[in-house]
Amino acid sequence: MSSNGAATHKFNPNFTQAVINATGPNVSPRVRKITASFIRHLHDFARENEITVDEWMAGVELMNEAGRMSDDKRNEGQLVSDIFGLETLVDEITYKLASDAQDEPTATAILGPFWRKDAPLKAMGDTIVSGIESKDRTWMHGTVTDFTTGKPVEGAVLDVWHTAPNGLYEQQDPNQPDMNLRGRFTTGKNGKYDFYCLRPVPYPIPFDGPAGKLLQALDRHPYRPAHIHFILTAPGYKPIVTQIFDRSSKYIDDDAVFAVKDSLLVDFKPCQGDPKADFELPYDFKMATYEDAKKHSVVGSTEASGSAI
Ligand code: BEZ
Ligand code: FE
Repeated sequence: MSSNGAATHKFNPNFTQAVINATGPNVSPRVRKITASFIRHLHDFARENEITVDEWMAGVELMNEAGRMSDDKRNEGQLVSDIFGLETLVDEITYKLASDAQDEPTATAILGPFWRKDAPLKAMGDTIVSGIESKDRTWMHGTVTDFTTGKPVEGAVLDVWHTAPNGLYEQQDPNQPDMNLRGRFTTGKNGKYDFYCLRPVPYPIPFDGPAGKLLQALDRHPYRPAHIHFILTAPGYKPIVTQIFDRSSKYIDDDAVFAVKDSLLVDFKPCQGDPKADFELPYDFKMATYEDAKKHSVVGSTEASGSAI
């Protein structure tokens, strides 16, 4: 529609509003608002591009195939969404802070489809690596602090996961033990944490299904730069879903799912004097209380969090 209400296209000018008006009375304001907006954008997209029945059916088949391939170890719908940058965009929308924030909590990054709940609870200084010989053994350590007071956060749980050197998460790889390269570590009074992991490698997101077909159609590669995933939770604090990225990794400027942020780039340093580590990775996390997070957030509902936490 133009500003005077006249249709700016050659198709039925009343159709979109009729579809929106079909929504019944017993619908929450939020669902009413976002479905009306979705219908409007979807119809505009179809009209603007004059989508044909064959093109629409190709899209439907892609969604159906994504559904058929998905199970508790594989989330093809999420992969397709990631390729279009949608998980990274909703992550930004959900967690963006007002620009006047003095200091900032650790930035968020997408969860991705490979998190598993109930990773093994480990003691500080333990390793998450099982049955892998490597020259990339890494000692990661740091402190979890409150971003406004700078005080250590006690009882913060770091849930960590990354791929094996073959680029596969354990649930993708029958040759890895269950829950390999995953662990949960709980800070004590001083907020400190440390554990052993591996320096991660770049790896391709699964590309043997609809996500792969899409990447091919868009002339894109499937690789993510080397990264380690985290979920941080602590009593009274807003959870943080994030990743840290090896600054020197291939694909650091060309992540297939657009998740890299400058503040999440890290440097692995050669480690001397620890027979269990080839590299050292110091990294501090900063958390915000729910109250502080609300104060600095640009969106209304800061207590809404992802399904993982
Ligand atoms: C991941 O980093 O685990 C990931 C993120 C998005 C798509 C595929 C994998
Ligand atoms: Fe990953």
